[in-house]
Amino acid sequence: MTIANNGYQSGFGNEFASEAIAGALPIGRNSPQRVAHGLYAEQLSGTAFTAPRHANRRSWLYRIRPAAMHGHFSLLSHPNFHNDFGDGPVTPDQLRWNPLPIPQSPTDFVDGLFTMGGNGSAAAQHGIGIHLYAANRDMQGRFFYDADGELLIVPQQGRLHIETELGTLDVEPQEIAVIARGVRFRVVLPDGDSRGYICENFGAFMRIPDLGPIGSNGLANPRDFLTPNAAYEDVEGDFELVAKFQGHLWRADIGHSPLDVVAWHGNHVPYKYDLRKFNTIGSISFDHPDPSIFLVLTSPSDTPGVGNMDFVIFGPRMLVAQDTFRPPWFHRNIASEFMGLIHGAYDAKADGFVPGGGSLHNCMTGHGPDAATFEKASAADTTKADAIQDTMAFMFESRNVIRPTQQAIDAAHRQRDYQHCWAGLQKHFDPAKP
Ligand SMILES: [Fe+2]
Repeated sequence: MTIANNGYQSGFGNEFASEAIAGALPIGRNSPQRVAHGLYAEQLSGTAFTAPRHANRRSWLYRIRPAAMHGHFSLLSHPNFHNDFGDGPVTPDQLRWNPLPIPQSPTDFVDGLFTMGGNGSAAAQHGIGIHLYAANRDMQGRFFYDADGELLIVPQQGRLHIETELGTLDVEPQEIAVIARGVRFRVVLPDGDSRGYICENFGAFMRIPDLGPIGSNGLANPRDFLTPNAAYEDVEGDFELVAKFQGHLWRADIGHSPLDVVAWHGNHVPYKYDLRKFNTIGSISFDHPDPSIFLVLTSPSDTPGVGNMDFVIFGPRMLVAQDTFRPPWFHRNIASEFMGLIHGAYDAKADGFVPGGGSLHNCMTGHGPDAATFEKASAADTTKADAIQDTMAFMFESRNVIRPTQQAIDAAHRQRDYQHCWAGLQKHFDPAKP
């Protein structure tokens, strides 16, 4: 049984409101003495009570049973999903991986999580965990929440039907979902075999960036962010509640579905966004602007302009810059970059970086176009426009080094010869030539 999608509300950071039964949502007060239809009132705070108004997140839930009702938690071992990023030596090598294989045995979204790396921690309240998932079965009789951070889910293969306490998100590849910190949910896989990327954000909530000189429109427009309407199930049974808490998984028995919120209002909410609606900005004269122009969502750090995590996409676009090397140039950044490819081909690599794969270029590690791409782009006719189509790559970028996990280093799907892609770059230097 699945909960139907009950539609969406549009906007980013709004005070949303929704009721699945007319009259269930109290008007004029948050916690009336008696809530209509015998519901319980419960507040879910996503920020400190006293956070400034523009950053304050909380929602009021009107539900069949309070979230407090469940059995004792006990540790749930999970071999591949954790926040153990280590504190020993970390390689500055360029790293790249093939797609995480789809499992052979029945595996749901939680069981199919695989941690690639990260930095910081839930305890430190900054940093990120970078995970993959590969799954082939619906979550059956189990529900999950992450107390450590919000979850940015980037499906690469297969749609996700995500039933949350606040309603249902239907997400397909080239769309993203964000599950607000602490919100309980279940993932159903309408297409079976499914795979994607997850950024677990321990820091400040992601927000759409200020636009500065770009003006009042552009990049990700607020109205394209969609938050679900209330949808609930009134079901009892022998279920399991799985919690991610301080880097580890815990499980408890629960005798009912926690997806029992009949009405709610607030701004601590899950949402989705279609990356194909991103209004891409770029140079119409010369040179290759920094990838910050491709910023979809940012989790700010304590330092202005320096992201705890930036989510950046490289989607379809026209390249028209004159007398310019048009693909992303060679670079070394203070920021650390984990890239993934959702769809098509990426314009800075001729091969080896395939949908479902990933790469990691950490602080000050040199990278850029491979030899084949360099030769092609150096000879291209830049009086004509290049249409970059049929592509959707992304980057989780962090101010802190992204420490790969040991399992990511040891993984059979890591490309141990990745550095060879630059080995063919020719020496062109000749002091006699203009
Ligand atoms: Fe880069």
